[in-house]
Amino acid sequence: MNLPDYVEARRRTKSKVDIEMYSNDIKGIGIGKTYHIKTYGCQMNEHDSENIKAILEELGFTYCEDYESSDLVLLNTCSIRENAHNKAFGMLGRLKHLKESSNPNLIVGLCGCMAQEEGVVKEIISKYKWVNFVFGTHNLHRLPYLLNENFKSNKSEIEVFSYEGNIIEGMPVKRDSKYKAFVNIIYGCDKFCTYCIVPFTRGKQRSRLKEDIISEVEQLVRDGYQEVTLLGQNVNAYGKDLELGYGMEELLEEVSKTNIPRIRFVTSHPWDFTDGMIDVIAKHKNIMPAIHLPVQSGSSSVLKLMGRRYSKEDYLTLFSKIKEKIPNVSISTDIIVGFPSETEEDFKETVELCHFCKFDNAFTFIYSPRENTAAAKLKDDTPLRVKEQRLNQLNDVVNKYFLENNKKLIGEYVPVLVEGISDKKNELYGYTDTNKLINFKGDESLIGKIVRVKVTDAKTWSLDGELDER
Ligand code: SAH
Ligand code: SF4
Ligand code: F3S
Repeated sequence: MNLPDYVEARRRTKSKVDIEMYSNDIKGIGIGKTYHIKTYGCQMNEHDSENIKAILEELGFTYCEDYESSDLVLLNTCSIRENAHNKAFGMLGRLKHLKESSNPNLIVGLCGCMAQEEGVVKEIISKYKWVNFVFGTHNLHRLPYLLNENFKSNKSEIEVFSYEGNIIEGMPVKRDSKYKAFVNIIYGCDKFCTYCIVPFTRGKQRSRLKEDIISEVEQLVRDGYQEVTLLGQNVNAYGKDLELGYGMEELLEEVSKTNIPRIRFVTSHPWDFTDGMIDVIAKHKNIMPAIHLPVQSGSSSVLKLMGRRYSKEDYLTLFSKIKEKIPNVSISTDIIVGFPSETEEDFKETVELCHFCKFDNAFTFIYSPRENTAAAKLKDDTPLRVKEQRLNQLNDVVNKYFLENNKKLIGEYVPVLVEGISDKKNELYGYTDTNKLINFKGDESLIGKIVRVKVTDAKTWSLDGELDER
């Protein structure tokens, strides 16, 4: 048994990051069995699940749509806010019931960010003894061994490491899409924003070697992929830890030369966004003009308490530079309301910033204290009712601009990567270069292609269009 440790999780040293090649000599333990994965949280987790699925399928497991009739159910969890946490525990409750009623041999596993939390694993050990195995974000590659041990001993296998982390190359992957792919470029986070649990659950900031990234993208091009999303908690810090004088600007330039039709990247921390990066994005047609630039708050004093390392003015300067230099760019954001000590005046500044920025999309959240983070120790005397009012008020403001921006596109021709058929309307759907969802009529054979669509109508969260057949 290896348990997570909050003190170790916070430690940062200059020690070298090891790069290990994935290997596995356990064979066939899943033959005749089915699996189901529930994935919570961000794209990082979605991509980890793509690796986990491939590992399970290599062991012989086959995917089952319905968790209730699967032999193995794995929860890939997220710790970012309390509701993500509650969802996973709610699901564990349902799995317990399933195990007790109709499926006594059900194998249940838990992984992802919650598995890195000392408190969560203690709770699993004391109250959820029937969970078969737990592993963390640093050891997905150990899954075959953990499962094998659990099958042999029939005892819970718990293996979570709270070290800074290494990099595992060569993991198998079963991608959810044939057209769009996630590519990790940097793991972990060293920013330690005071509200955030990610630096504790994902280890230190560590960049993949550019050679490994480029060869993955080149393979995707050969496989016919149309789009890559470069992934990291803060992609703009790419390369800083390698100290090779090669950063996000150079990486974007080189990925662009692979001729993959579309490049996206998430998430950009404003602190590390350089002028050089803006120029590279503006210069290359295959780098999409859509930037996710979380602001978190419009009040410089709240930003300071959040440990974000920029002021409202810094953010607005960067925002304006991006708007000015990248034609047609769309900018989206994340905002937290109700951070400890946020006053009505601070909140007003956030609202004003949204009126100024007119974001194309915004993910808004009520602050959720996370165990062991610096902000969890701050006095928080704003009642939940007030926080909810602030969230509603903010949502009204940001939604108004989503619609306004979408309406401006009516009559324009936009490039769209067609992803599939929407359930509701039996129409094709896809995303524009600026990352807006659009529905339009067309033949199924267009799925996986980039087509031109004329925008005919606009809603708050989507567009309607007509295929340009010329
Ligand atoms: N690395 C990204 C954010 C990843 S988490 C960045 O720095 O921009 C995604 C979003 O969740 C954050 O941008 C923040 O808005 C929100 N979030 C993170 N911790 C939170 C907390 N404790 N309470 C509420 N929202 C939180
Ligand atoms: Fe969390 Fe801040 Fe790191 Fe983003 S940059 S993952 S918000 S600590
Ligand atoms: Fe959640 Fe972990 Fe992502 S906490 S948001 S799954 S990095």
